[in-house]
Amino acid sequence: MTRRRMIAGNWKLHKTVTEAVALVRDLRRLVSQVRDCDIVVAPPYTALYPVAKALEDSNIKLSAQEMFYEDKGAFTGAVSGAMLNEVGCAYTIVAHSERRQLFGETLESSNKRVKAAFKHGLIPIFCIGETLAERQANQTMQVVAAQLDAGIAGLDSATLKRLVVAYEPVWAIGTGVVASPQQAQEVHRMIRERLRAKDSGAAEVIPLLYGGSVKPDNAKELLAQADIDGALVGGASLEAEQFAAIVKARPSA
Ligand code: PGA
Repeated sequence: MTRRRMIAGNWKLHKTVTEAVALVRDLRRLVSQVRDCDIVVAPPYTALYPVAKALEDSNIKLSAQEMFYEDKGAFTGAVSGAMLNEVGCAYTIVAHSERRQLFGETLESSNKRVKAAFKHGLIPIFCIGETLAERQANQTMQVVAAQLDAGIAGLDSATLKRLVVAYEPVWAIGTGVVASPQQAQEVHRMIRERLRAKDSGAAEVIPLLYGGSVKPDNAKELLAQADIDGALVGGASLEAEQFAAIVKARPSA
């Protein structure tokens, strides 16, 4: 397989600067031997720069949790791609379901963010996923497909090939209810097929991450699925040992 594996930790609203630096110091020691998998952490904005310094010369890369699509202007509270790039981010999460549900992210604004991230040299980790009500109404595939199509609209092939997609069923996020490996694989396969119909080369190289209550004890089976290339981890990324155990649960290269 030509796809890189990736395990990314989304810290959400957790960790002061002191706590964040302590966490990545432990983590870099625990995963220092890993070469066949991209390891990414997404601390809150305030900790990005100190964490970047603490990760120098390590195999762990830095992500933001969100970025605004405008470059500058009167947008109180917003942070631009250029700002994130300068402090050492290689990635930014885009359109996480919490951003969609709590902060008004739309199909259209997710596409603006994806494009703005690429423009500033950041790789978007683009999140899609259905709510419980949508799953129960048998709308999972159509909701996820619509989110995917909207987010990647207008990307050329070379750009699309650099994208990372995370499938995160909303009902599995922070609930302890993980999608079964079969449920996750079913949606991942649909995402891969949809990408293939658009651009077969890109479909082979875009890592598809699963997110939603990934823990050390369920990671192995999820990561063994054919179209699951990695994980986006919330709660279990806040403890170095747990996050490292998920990195170690990946299938051997
Ligand atoms: P969780 O969060 O692992 O705590 O469910 C995942 C996410 O929101 O990315």
